[in-house]
Amino acid sequence: MRAGGNDPIREAARLLADRRNAVALTGAGISVESGIPSFRGAQGMWAKYDPTEYATLHAFMQSPRKVWEMLSEMVSVCGGAAPNPAHKGLAALEEMGIVRAVITQNVDGLHQAGGSRRVIEYHGNMEELICVYCWKRYPTRERWTPGSVPLCDCGEILKPNVVLFGEPIPWLAQEQAEEEARTCGVLVVIGTSAQVSPACDIPRVAKEAGAVVVEINPEPTSLTASVTDVHVTGGASEVLDRLAKLIRKTGSGPLEY
Ligand code: OAD
Repeated sequence: MRAGGNDPIREAARLLADRRNAVALTGAGISVESGIPSFRGAQGMWAKYDPTEYATLHAFMQSPRKVWEMLSEMVSVCGGAAPNPAHKGLAALEEMGIVRAVITQNVDGLHQAGGSRRVIEYHGNMEELICVYCWKRYPTRERWTPGSVPLCDCGEILKPNVVLFGEPIPWLAQEQAEEEARTCGVLVVIGTSAQVSPACDIPRVAKEAGAVVVEINPEPTSLTASVTDVHVTGGASEVLDRLAKLIRKTGSGPLEY
């Protein structure tokens, strides 16, 4: 029988406590309980905004004011959100020396707000605006107000420094994420449907390099039957809070059930 018996959360706790050397890969699901909608599914952003019209670089270049209808909503929602127990649980695991880095597809800054120190922002973040013509950058809060379309000093419309479809992953984030995936002992995949490339390749890279893959998601994903070793079915807040408590209670000694 594998460590932790048939209880996936205890199995995950045992793996993390034993191996330590863990990296987390997070997606929109980890911020749902902070009030930020995910992308896919009935309540997701893509049910309201067709991503081909609102989330591609081509769409932004053609109709930036239209794309800002969606971006404004994202900036407002992200700006008003606070980290939830899942973000804080991951930070606690970093503090305990269990998790060494978080690779996030999210652009909301909530891992840093929750206390995580080594965060790789794979899809950029909402805190900065960039001019796609002259490349000048500005803090979002200096140029954007609700309902406005932020302009560069050169007169062009600014874009949040996030990765839209059709844009490359920032090279440093890509390099760092690959390195973390190749060298971790446990990859904890939290709240992502794993449908967007190249982020969805990270679990496979980790697995092929010898990592154990733990997945935390209320639903199965494309990873669950193929790459995942332990699927903890549940919301990120409840599961991470419990994992951090289980591991803190036992230190590196045997897990008490
Ligand atoms: P998705 O919306 O595709 O997936 C969210 C996942 O979170 C789903 O698998 C849900 O089952 C899960 N989920 C929902 N509530 C949860 C909870 N409370 N706890 C844990 N999991 C929960 O979001 P992502 O996979 O992050 O990229 O999407 C990836 C990328 O697609 C985004 O970064 C964005 C989007 O298009 C770009 O815009 C480039």
